[in-house]
Amino acid sequence: MTRRLAKHSKAPFLKRISLREDIAGNSDNAAFPFSVPFVRRRTLDIAFDRQVTIIVGENGTGKSTLLEGIASQCGFNLAGGSVDNRFGNERQAALAPFLRLSWLPKVSRGFFMRAESFFNFASYIDEIARESPPPRAYAAYGGGSLHARSHGEAFLALFENRFGADSLYILDEPEAALSPSRQFVFLRVLKELESKNCQVIMATHSPMLMAYPRADLLRLEEEGGIGRIGFRETSHYLLMREFMKDPDGFVAGMLRD
Ligand SMILES: Nc1ncnc2c1ncn2[C@@H]1O[C@H](COP(=O)(O)OP(=O)(O)OP(=O)(O)O)[C@@H](O)[C@H]1O
Ligand SMILES: [Mg+2]
Repeated sequence: MTRRLAKHSKAPFLKRISLREDIAGNSDNAAFPFSVPFVRRRTLDIAFDRQVTIIVGENGTGKSTLLEGIASQCGFNLAGGSVDNRFGNERQAALAPFLRLSWLPKVSRGFFMRAESFFNFASYIDEIARESPPPRAYAAYGGGSLHARSHGEAFLALFENRFGADSLYILDEPEAALSPSRQFVFLRVLKELESKNCQVIMATHSPMLMAYPRADLLRLEEEGGIGRIGFRETSHYLLMREFMKDPDGFVAGMLRD
């Protein structure tokens, strides 16, 4: 079913993302999405050089807003899924009209995965299975309902069975359901996607996922800046390192009045 790209088309397909110039006359800085730090400061201009891009940043810095905007421009279902999955609230993402995406070539194969609406996605696949013979509907999801597996098992079934070649994957906190050991399994999924000429753009809070060796790590700052960062410079890594050195002392320090 997957159409192969021309042989010379190598990931990353999405080369650059920036804000459209006409956003200037359109903005009330207090209102979403103009209130998001990188929109307010007009700093968004990312060149994608590698197949795996990892976006990090504190809560509320705009990671999901950005991923949703990209997914929306790709035509992926915002509740999670591909261009073929039509369910849920089919709105356009708030940021989408203000984004400029540069492709070479444009791809529409891929998937938007967000942890928070995965339950609804699993229900949607069950609904399709009720309408068409179950083996076919479930084929891309490991042969059975995603609801019949634990949260983490369902995530991995999706990653390992549904994700094909020459595609763009936009993943928002894929670690959400995964135990630490399964997060390391997920690193193998990333490697597999790279070998299948895919592009992955992913937001995470997991230091384990940030450690993926060939990723470009970008940090969204609370003041609106966007910059490349090394894994060992992230607050996630530094905090976990302090915790691991002396868990009891670290926790006692956090709980001290
Ligand atoms: N639909 C919305 N309406 C109004 N404000 C919103 C909406 N969605 C997000 N925001 C605000 O925009 C900011 C960025 O939110 P976003 O969800 O993109 O952050 P994030 O970096 O993904 O955070 P987290 O790490 O918690 O997932 C937040 O301050 C949030 O409150
Ligand atoms: Mg988020």
